[in-house]
Amino acid sequence: MLAASIKLQSRLPAVGTTIFTVMSALANEHRAINLSQGFPDFDSPPELLEAVGRHMRAQRNQYAPMAGVLALREAIAAKVQTLYGASYEVDSEVTVTAGATQAIFTAVAAVIGAGDEAIVFEPVYDSYVPSIELNGGRAVICRLELPDYRINWQKVREAITPRTKMIIINSPNNPIGSVLTRADLDELAAIVRDTDIAVLSDEVYEHVVFDGTAHASVAAHEELAARSFVVSSFGKTYHVTGWKVAYCIAPKALMTEFRKAHQFIVFTVNSVMQHALADFMQNTGWYRELGIFYQQKRDQFRALIKDAPFELLPCGGTYFQCVRYRHDEPDVAFTRRLTIDIGVAAIPVSAFYSDGFDAHVIRFCFAKSTATLEAAAARLAKLV
Ligand SMILES: Cc1ncc(COP(=O)(O)O)c(C=O)c1O
Repeated sequence: MLAASIKLQSRLPAVGTTIFTVMSALANEHRAINLSQGFPDFDSPPELLEAVGRHMRAQRNQYAPMAGVLALREAIAAKVQTLYGASYEVDSEVTVTAGATQAIFTAVAAVIGAGDEAIVFEPVYDSYVPSIELNGGRAVICRLELPDYRINWQKVREAITPRTKMIIINSPNNPIGSVLTRADLDELAAIVRDTDIAVLSDEVYEHVVFDGTAHASVAAHEELAARSFVVSSFGKTYHVTGWKVAYCIAPKALMTEFRKAHQFIVFTVNSVMQHALADFMQNTGWYRELGIFYQQKRDQFRALIKDAPFELLPCGGTYFQCVRYRHDEPDVAFTRRLTIDIGVAAIPVSAFYSDGFDAHVIRFCFAKSTATLEAAAARLAKLV
């Protein structure tokens, strides 16, 4: 090991190894079934993989355009038009990114500077606050209210200051599986009306919405869309989380600033995967059926664990099922015990709170094969 000869002042002093890494390592160490990290354990679509090979052999192996491969941007704009009735200009309002993580960081970098504030909702997806802080800003936390994890819009109103530059929303929500309604978006629109506050809408699970509910995209809300960055991820939609390809759509004035940052953060994204995704997006049935596919998984998992000592929380979208346990034990200790003694890894939801708020809720990922879910449920049945 090389000894560092300088002392770095950490830009993220509160950040350690993420809970996902910690729980996956523990799962590996104890050969536990890993329902902690959010990725599918089933195959990516064969036609998509074939398209990758085809484009690679066709020598589409050099830099893609900065904003993304044209055919992919066209496919994205067409999808958004079909699903949400919104017209985004392919040339100036659609950008392909290296995962939603980069899109989120870039949108924050485009808006937030030293001393600016961004409102986030806890439990909060783990990249938002570090993105804000690395850009010199401050995250102002509004807590989703128990028992149903709804946004208290009055509290949001009260959290706004002259320094508020952005509000970040996430629906369907990771970790909690709640979804925002059109009425929520109307509340948000009324709050930011006549301000210069931008909205960043993380919609990576836009196609994973259940029970016949239509996803309330910010793109479909004309007033909000005019001030919003909307982010989605191909990783979630096509079972290819490892590819890290996603996109951001925003009105031209916002996208111009986004691209100024984007070009110096990654400049451009894996070209072959973009060409393959553009081809595969012609299969429009895929994303229409994704919600049904995951709804079956959700129902299967809920039925399998119904006798475990958990209260199953509602799950309106995403591939996460949260449960409340009855044991008198902090959630971090509980998930450790679950991993080591029972053999199933989950995520303690306190990890999504800056102050470690612990409502004895843990998160399972059900984007797994039937065999994995059945094996996990058999182990969870032994929990007393
Ligand atoms: C809510 C949310 N936003 C963003 C991301 C990051 O997506 P990507 O893998 O495309 O960077 C994830 C991944 O788990 C997520 O759950």
